[in-house]
Amino acid sequence: MTIDVVILAAGKGTRMHSDLPKVLHPIGGIPMLERVIDTAMSLGEVQITVVIGHGAELVRERFADRGVRFVEQAQQLGTGHAVAQAAPYFRAGANVLVLYGDVPLVKAGSLQSLLSAADCGPALMSVEMANPAGYGRIVRDSSGRVQSIVEEKDADADTLAISEVNTGILAASGDLLARWLPELSCDNAQGEYYLTDIVGRSVSEGIAVAGVLASDPLEVAGVNSRAQQAQMERALQHQQATSLMNAGVTLLDPARIDIRGSLTCDTDVSIDINCIFEGTVSLGKGVKIGPNCLLKNCHLADGTRVEANSIIEGAEVGETCTIGPFARLRPGTELSTGAKVGNFVETKKAKIGAGSKINHLSYVGDALVGEAVNIGAGTITCNYDGVNKSLTEIGDQAFIGSNTALVAPVTVGAGATIAAGSTITRAVDPEALAVARGKQRNISGWQRPTKKQK
Ligand code: UD1
Ligand code: CA
Repeated sequence: MTIDVVILAAGKGTRMHSDLPKVLHPIGGIPMLERVIDTAMSLGEVQITVVIGHGAELVRERFADRGVRFVEQAQQLGTGHAVAQAAPYFRAGANVLVLYGDVPLVKAGSLQSLLSAADCGPALMSVEMANPAGYGRIVRDSSGRVQSIVEEKDADADTLAISEVNTGILAASGDLLARWLPELSCDNAQGEYYLTDIVGRSVSEGIAVAGVLASDPLEVAGVNSRAQQAQMERALQHQQATSLMNAGVTLLDPARIDIRGSLTCDTDVSIDINCIFEGTVSLGKGVKIGPNCLLKNCHLADGTRVEANSIIEGAEVGETCTIGPFARLRPGTELSTGAKVGNFVETKKAKIGAGSKINHLSYVGDALVGEAVNIGAGTITCNYDGVNKSLTEIGDQAFIGSNTALVAPVTVGAGATIAAGSTITRAVDPEALAVARGKQRNISGWQRPTKKQK
């Protein structure tokens, strides 16, 4: 089946009161339109046309590398007019699927069903709503066949009482749409070219229209305001938390986790409250995440523990490591098996070897640290001279005393010892002791200054 997807995204989103086009606002950390494009692409070999208008340039820029076509609808004259902008690109014999940039949680499975239902005639996705206000109503005849869609503003009292509404999502033959769309009229309460009018048109030509009920109102919900965005965000977070728990993850409170991207967990992972996961995060077997942590684009291997209030971004963490509390791992951090990064330690572009420890109050950036190294409290790699960044290399089993400044570029050999309080500017040989600090003088009988009389 040839599938041409049209995504409507030209509307202004007035009620968002935003300079950002509505479809670029995120749900679960991903712009709404990106979610729709991803879902459409998961249907197989599809051709995607996005109809843009308000904020067209920003939308184009954001998705320039996605292999989708953009067509501009200069004036928003209605959903029928919007789809008509894409009609010149319909491929012969294609099934056209109409989606919306502001209906981000639609599921591929439902779209597959809709496309299958559109084999003989148009198929539209409908949903039952307790409060159908604002939506187009699905009018069926006495034997249940879809007759037409009537927009709220064009509806009489009987029609308004119908609780089955149009989600807007539909699938139909591109050849039929290309014939029907140019013939739509705007003779209605809103003076718009309604896409929904193709339903009546199809029926009058004797082509039955299928109605496929959406299983879950969330997947067909649209976002028109910040409040709806926030509601949808909560609903999505709830859904994601539930599927993690169903897969065996312990969430100490499923209402206090936010996944803005994708989180994959191996068995027996436990996540304490108020954790945020951004981008792509994966956690190995038995990983434990303490409360109030932020993890972004990182992988943590089996058995690693992250204590409270830690931030990990762009890091690759090996097995059985311990991180935090209050640690910050920045991009390019790699921890090997059993490494420890403790409280108030910041790392960046740093490879830390197996079993090495940086337990307290240190900055280790642009560094290669060997195995079983002990880095004392208050150690700083001085990696930046104001212009360039330089590397610090520390060999296996080195011992760096507390409050050491390692002025890069510099190397500390394997097994070397650095005395506390040293400022190291030259290479230290393996197994050597380096002491680089002012010598202590003791002056006996020292008289403290006394306060002057006024
Ligand atoms: C539409 C349907 C209605 C359905 C409802 C579901 C029509 C005529 N009505 O109504 O039956 O119940 O969706 O939410 O289709 N858009 C454009 N260009 C335009 C007009 C709209 O790109 O010229 C886009 C908008 O950005 C929006 C979407 O299409 O994302 C829907 O448009 P909107 O005007 O909100 O449709 P509704 O009046 O809600
Ligand atoms: Ca409208």
